[in-house]
Amino acid sequence: MARAASTRSAPVAGPVTWRQARARVVRHEDWGAGHRWLDLEVPPAFPKPVAGQFVQLLLESPSPVLLPRPMSVASATPAPGGRVIVGFLYAPVGSGTRTLAALRPGATLEVLGPLGRGYPLDAPGTPVLVAGGRGVAPLLFAADALARRGRKSVFVFGARTRDLLVGVDEARRRMAKIDGALHLATDDGSRGLRGTVVDVLDRIAPKLPAPLVLHACGPHAMLHALATWSAPRGAHAWLAMESVMACGTGVCRGCPLPRSTAGRETYRRERADAPSLYGNAEYAMCCTEGPVFEARELDWDRIE
Ligand SMILES: Cc1cc2nc3c(=O)[nH]c(=O)nc-3n(C[C@H](O)[C@H](O)[C@H](O)COP(=O)(O)OP(=O)(O)OC[C@H]3O[C@@H](n4cnc5c(N)ncnc54)[C@H](O)[C@@H]3O)c2cc1C
Ligand code: FES
Repeated sequence: MARAASTRSAPVAGPVTWRQARARVVRHEDWGAGHRWLDLEVPPAFPKPVAGQFVQLLLESPSPVLLPRPMSVASATPAPGGRVIVGFLYAPVGSGTRTLAALRPGATLEVLGPLGRGYPLDAPGTPVLVAGGRGVAPLLFAADALARRGRKSVFVFGARTRDLLVGVDEARRRMAKIDGALHLATDDGSRGLRGTVVDVLDRIAPKLPAPLVLHACGPHAMLHALATWSAPRGAHAWLAMESVMACGTGVCRGCPLPRSTAGRETYRRERADAPSLYGNAEYAMCCTEGPVFEARELDWDRIE
């Protein structure tokens, strides 16, 4: 099958567009199964994020953590006066996110962003949004962005159990607006298909117009399985990766991901002049060149 040209929302070495700004908590609520939804109001000077980008949240003193915490943008809605409400869906898993979880409406924190490169929302083909667990966050945003472009998408959402399909009602609402399909899968069969998102793709792919353009986010094992599934089927897989991050801006070199042979060739052909903030021929920086990568660009056997 011919490879369709893919387009991304930002060039590999475009001008730096992120800003640091003071944000205000306007909504912060429990979304079940240990997850929370956070809405932050950011000033007009904060550039509007695109789906797949993330921000660094800097908790104010006194905070048990020094470094900012990276979080995918789950929504971006215009507010009066040119302000934007930026939404996040997250799980409090450690000191930073537990401190974040205690912030009440009216509290302030610094945000740095929007950071990284997002999904190729204009790529020709059928957009298929594939979410695993809390990885649903950037895909809710992608569903909104595709709908605004008048593009119909398909949503595949998998988790271990039905309780962990957090945000499923939001995904359903978005698909209802565009008359798109939502397919669910759980490991224990408590909701949707018993199995994984790959099992769902095996069932639905033959009925969808090629090429499929997967936009995915979830656990590493799921992303690896999607990379393996997509290659022989001529599907394009754009995967939002996570890595431990300190700066989020390419400076600390703390988030390298190994390139595949194809990735090294692409780098030498198209990106050799990119600033070192974007990595080098061997390693891509997850925060600047990603977090969304095309699966074939990375060496999956060397990613932990
Ligand atoms: C690009 C990106 C987008 C993300 N989006 C989301 C999201 O939408 N929702 C969500 O719930 N989580 C998201 N995460 C993960 C989130 O950043 C971590 O859960 C958070 O940083 C943990 O901080 P902590 O202080 O609470 O936990 P810690 O006590 O520091 O550690 C708990 C766990 O989180 C991991 N972790 C710690 N610091 C970081 C860090 N700076 N970067 C990455 N992982 C870290 C640790 O390896 C450990 O497994 C994202 C991570 C990245 C890199
Ligand atoms: S987090 Fe510092 S280089 Fe990526």
